[in-house]
Amino acid sequence: MKIIKKILVALLIVFIIMQFFGPDINEGDITTVDAFIADTNPPSDVKAILESTCYDCHSDVTTYPWYNKITPVNYWLADHIKDGKKHFNLSAWNDYDLKKKDHKMDELIEEVEEKKMPLESYTYTHGDANLTDEQIAAVVAWGKDVRVKYQEQLKAE
Ligand code: HEC
Repeated sequence: MKIIKKILVALLIVFIIMQFFGPDINEGDITTVDAFIADTNPPSDVKAILESTCYDCHSDVTTYPWYNKITPVNYWLADHIKDGKKHFNLSAWNDYDLKKKDHKMDELIEEVEEKKMPLESYTYTHGDANLTDEQIAAVVAWGKDVRVKYQEQLKAE
């Protein structure tokens, strides 16, 4: 028993020390998303969906939950954000060329239609990020419209 107690105390101390460490936080400038909004012109309902369910992992601005204060949970969240932004960053939309934008919109339609996005681990803790069929249809319709525009621009190039 004594040894178990010692191990538990040691683990607690390690946990407390860990709290002094944490990853960089993703709290940049929200206006970096303006270029994406201007370019893709989502209707207000779609814009609200993107803002509340996608920006956290796909833009420079994350609205963090309280448990982001806990190490190592914060490292786990930071990892999702880093990975999300690497694949699809709404704060760097104009760094993508036309072909890449079109491809990313294609991915977006697919991911949302197949309910792969927002990530399941996210919808556990953000109940209203569980998109309804209606919301999914609105996002997909907008995404398809944007692709029509990009396709036309690509043809004109
Ligand atoms: C909890 C973080 C998180 C949230 C919230 C989230 N994503 Fe993602 N997303 C990721 C991660 C991580 C990846 C890369 C790995 C993967 O594809 O699973 C990704 C990948 C993607 C990709 C694929 C890009 C590519 O080229 O393969 C698209 C598109 C995408 N997300 C769109 C969305 C949309 C739209 C929303 C909101 C409806 C959303 N995501 C919400 C984390 C997130």
